[in-house]
Amino acid sequence: MAHISASVYTSHVPAIGAAMDLSKTREPYWQPLFAGYDFSRQWLKENRPDVILLVYNDHATAFSLDMIPTFALGTAAEYQVADEGWGPRPVPKVIGHPELASHIAQSVIQQDFDLTIINKMDVDHGLTVPLSLMCGEKDPVKDAWPCPVIPLAVNVVQYPVPSGQRCLNLGRAIRKAIESYDENLNVQIWGTGGMSHQLQGARAGLINKEWDNRFLDLLIENPVGLSEIPHIEYVREAGSEGIELVMWLIARGAMADVDCAKPLPKVLHRFYHVPASNTAVGHLILQNQA
Ligand code: DHB
Ligand code: FE
Repeated sequence: MAHISASVYTSHVPAIGAAMDLSKTREPYWQPLFAGYDFSRQWLKENRPDVILLVYNDHATAFSLDMIPTFALGTAAEYQVADEGWGPRPVPKVIGHPELASHIAQSVIQQDFDLTIINKMDVDHGLTVPLSLMCGEKDPVKDAWPCPVIPLAVNVVQYPVPSGQRCLNLGRAIRKAIESYDENLNVQIWGTGGMSHQLQGARAGLINKEWDNRFLDLLIENPVGLSEIPHIEYVREAGSEGIELVMWLIARGAMADVDCAKPLPKVLHRFYHVPASNTAVGHLILQNQA
């Protein structure tokens, strides 16, 4: 059967993608940020999954305000890199996994989560920047990402957004779905977006290091308690775009300890850095205990 070996959490700041694409990663501003991913890139090389289920948010790129799915699962064979106004990033297209994605849709919808099925969509910085951060820019990433990716797009752009509890429970359902897939696949689930940031209005530039680090502590040790935080606290404490963090609870809910009375996952890596563009960057790698 398929299984989830680890979960990865990371911010998705578009300027990080631009820094990589324009060879600026060694500049003093960016160097400390990318140093925080050295371990992760080595780890991913040594622990390459068969599939990544990547939870992210589209930024009105593939989905305009004409139609706003709360949870949209990509079942396509491939996804083109979106043009967000400066041309598509010079990174490989994303190869999907239609068989596993269709199974997840079947299982999760039958567990009463009304997913939208996406058979064609372009993917924006929300998906490609986490991949770039974790994979680096060297070969073979120039030609292809290291494995197929199943995108799960979550609406955190237009209110109302899903609650933390709904996200944690979706993660639980996804774990059941993956563990009932009849092929021995090693799957990683990634939760992306955040940390604290606000891009507009009177509080533009807001960063809350204390709240972010408490979020990381609770995500590791008490995800059920963390899931009870209402969306208004994310907005008040972490800024209007800090609500992206609710997506991390989907990945965390899919870890074995949440439902199976297994030990807490092992923290393989933890990193926090300010600033990156207008955003605090947070990053965790959690491994399921055997
Ligand atoms: C920035 C951060 C985001 O999450 C985003 O989607 C766009 C911009 C920023 O920090 O500039
Ligand atoms: Fe964003």
